Amino acid sequence: MIRTASSIRTLIQSLRAISSFSSQIGVGARNSYNSGAVSSLQQVIRPSTYGEDEYADVDWDNLGFGITPADYMYINQSTKDGEFHQGQLSRYGALELSPAAGVLNYGQARKSLTSGRQIWIQGLYEGTKAYRKEDGRLLVFRPDQNALRMKMGADRICMPCPSVDQFVDAVKQVALANKRWTPPPGKGTMYIRPLLMGSGPIMGLAPAPEYTFLIYCSPVGNYFKEGFAPLNLYVEDEFHRATRGGAGGVKSITNYAPVLKAIARAKGNGYSDVLYLDSVHKRYLEEVSSCNIFVLKGRVISTPAAIGTILQGVTRKSIIEIASDQGYQVEERAVAVDELAEADEVFCTGTAVGVASVASITYQGKRLEYKVGAETVAQQLYSILEGIKSGAIEDKKGWVVEI
Ligand code: COI
Repeated sequence: MIRTASSIRTLIQSLRAISSFSSQIGVGARNSYNSGAVSSLQQVIRPSTYGEDEYADVDWDNLGFGITPADYMYINQSTKDGEFHQGQLSRYGALELSPAAGVLNYGQARKSLTSGRQIWIQGLYEGTKAYRKEDGRLLVFRPDQNALRMKMGADRICMPCPSVDQFVDAVKQVALANKRWTPPPGKGTMYIRPLLMGSGPIMGLAPAPEYTFLIYCSPVGNYFKEGFAPLNLYVEDEFHRATRGGAGGVKSITNYAPVLKAIARAKGNGYSDVLYLDSVHKRYLEEVSSCNIFVLKGRVISTPAAIGTILQGVTRKSIIEIASDQGYQVEERAVAVDELAEADEVFCTGTAVGVASVASITYQGKRLEYKVGAETVAQQLYSILEGIKSGAIEDKKGWVVEI
């Protein structure tokens, strides 16, 4: 069972312990805290040096989407049997990894020379956000969904995974321990980044002998440097993000390196990001490098169906539900690139991105333009979602976890 907010608070006030670094993975900094818990779940601990309402020294008005190191991270290393037991908060710092760690050695998705099959590196990540409410409480949005997605990804690439309870509990610990780094209401959010990796040494191509579940966080503002300005996307028909039968549907780190070249090229030409097509027909929309995509025509909102090549975004799922509640017909299906010419609005969704309107999409030299601004459906959905996440709108869906 996940602990309640009040019991977590009690633990915060009462627990403080120091523990050793693990043998497989260590941290560069010296301070490390452990709850010394007797249960199988991690206990929430936090050094008592900072007051509840204290803020870190950050320029909250100028947050971008970069790393601002917070105080603590969380590490849980599996046993050799792939079990995750007790994790701990440690000072945020550099990691020490075996040079033979699975995650370092099979670090790119590539074709096996012998079998021709894809080889998948064992590394997954997640992203969720904590919001600071006016009353000082922290809200985390649907961390159980991130936990479930990590489980799905771990299964796909043969990794053991912490339980949903362990995952959610660890997210809460990190959010609370780093509370002073969470931006004031309206100034940004605390981006929480869970990782799962094959950290044990391995020479041949096989699952690693040990795994590390780690969470760090950073206060962030807008993902795109354009801020809230609508995006200008470029449709890529040379590079693909994912292939059928691959791992595009899970949050494998291998889905991200292959798009860097396409992003660099698009950004060099003044675009915000790249929209990818399916690799078989080069005809159907997949997703943008950093987010999912939705196309609006009249009262119908269409988004590419998650058939293994498209990430099942938590924001995507939430927007589908909110849009249906608002009376829109939402269709998860194959969306042809030609449909972009008929669309009224296009928007992107993601944890980092939020809900971002698209001003234009350029495909084969033709620039298509869409409605943007305060009166758009994208803006309406964004306002509802952000309202729920930040506590401004009552959460009737049980999506928000208050800490
Ligand atoms: C997120 O939205 O959380 C992501 O993982 C996308 C990433 C490119 C920042």
